[in-house]
Amino acid sequence: MKHREKLTSRLGFLLISAGCAVGLGNVWRFPYITGQYGGAAFVLVYLFFLVILGLPIMTMEFAVGRGSQKSSSLSFDTLEPKGTKWHFIKYLSIMGNYVLMMFYTTVGGWMLNYFIKMATGQLAGLSATETAAVFDSMLASPFENVFFMMLVTILGFFICSKGLQNGVEKVSKWMMSSLFIIMIALVVRSFTLPDAIEGLKFFLIPDFHRMMDAGIFEVVFAAMSQAFFTLSIGIGSLAIFGSYLSKERRLFGESINITILDTAVALLSGLIIFPACFAFGIDVSSGPGLIFVTLPNVFTAMPFGTLWGSLFFIFLSFASFTTIIAVFESIVAFSIDLGMERKKAVLTHGFAILILSLPCALGFNVLSHIQPLGANTTIQDFLDFIVSSNLLPVGSLLYLMFCTQKYGWGWNNFLQEANTGKGIAFPSTKWMRRYVTVVLSIIVIFIFYQGYAERFSYPLNILLPIGIVIFVLIIPFHAYLTSKK
Ligand code: ALA
Repeated sequence: MKHREKLTSRLGFLLISAGCAVGLGNVWRFPYITGQYGGAAFVLVYLFFLVILGLPIMTMEFAVGRGSQKSSSLSFDTLEPKGTKWHFIKYLSIMGNYVLMMFYTTVGGWMLNYFIKMATGQLAGLSATETAAVFDSMLASPFENVFFMMLVTILGFFICSKGLQNGVEKVSKWMMSSLFIIMIALVVRSFTLPDAIEGLKFFLIPDFHRMMDAGIFEVVFAAMSQAFFTLSIGIGSLAIFGSYLSKERRLFGESINITILDTAVALLSGLIIFPACFAFGIDVSSGPGLIFVTLPNVFTAMPFGTLWGSLFFIFLSFASFTTIIAVFESIVAFSIDLGMERKKAVLTHGFAILILSLPCALGFNVLSHIQPLGANTTIQDFLDFIVSSNLLPVGSLLYLMFCTQKYGWGWNNFLQEANTGKGIAFPSTKWMRRYVTVVLSIIVIFIFYQGYAERFSYPLNILLPIGIVIFVLIIPFHAYLTSKK
């Protein structure tokens, strides 16, 4: 058997996996939804779901990766009981990674674009209306969207072509370390702004009334979905790094470390953004445009604003880029595991992602008449819906069933793999088994259902999710029947 390439160190594994998790979810989505859903109380709910939901599923992904020593293009084939069809999950997984990148590369491109705009003084001295106009004109320009999308895609695949250790691991380690240093500098800057304390209060002192105003149900759903997105669980993009990891450390302990790193970046982003917003009287509930439309004004108003603004957008670019290269590595590994040379896999997938990212990049301009989810929605909203409301929860449900059911890989195999090595063990008690098998599955199905309930009205909000769940559950049901024969 061909020897599988490994990461050079444990630190490499932690930073590469954290790099995969840390991304737009932390630095873009987390601050704006925290702003919309009322601050600290939302953060508490989010942290709760990260622990009860994110951690166990992440451990399962790593266990499947390490247990099979394969990416998800072959991991289920390797571990499934004979005659079962669990390996069909690979199609969801491949689709999940692809669709995620089909919109992520465009937003990653915006970050780089904004870094250049900021560093070259194009945003200096602009009024709030002018800053908003810069964002609108960027969206309206097919050239800008496509150029920066292509740039990050080509750079990302170029790094993958250098190999796991020399490319992805080296760059992730370097970028993640720089990211923390830049973040600390920005936090210090933000804390020393006048009235920073108001922003800190908003972000750190829970006000449950404010959360109730936003609607408790909406808050819980937003927190759950954010927990899924930020860890990108359910589509096997983390599983691959489990397959590159030695057996020295227990996977639950490593998942805790990665979740802590991911949370640290989200919290630090909040510590940068909220004091700055309050210091300059900016509305924190302004939604997705928060960092592009409102924040540049903050930098404009600061002494040495160009420097701080550039550092801020470098930080965002690094965060999104580490996710891009980690997911690209996962995609490239699908084909390497099937016997393709790395260079050829890079070229093939690189070309495919370049083409498939075009609809999103053009969806804000020449294709803006395509509004797949109703008036004023974009192709990006649609792709995000496919990943966040479908592939992440559905994939997670299948991972859960695979790792807990006898007719799948099974609880004992999962525990044995997860608990091999040193570190914190995944609890092997009966209640834990019941919890992950029953409670967690119900929560995941609820999240999946709610994604449809929010988007569609009756009867589609009922028929579509039920239809999809039944379709997907054919895999475990078939495995169950096979085991009875
Ligand atoms: N986990 C990735 C992020 O947070 C998708 O951006």
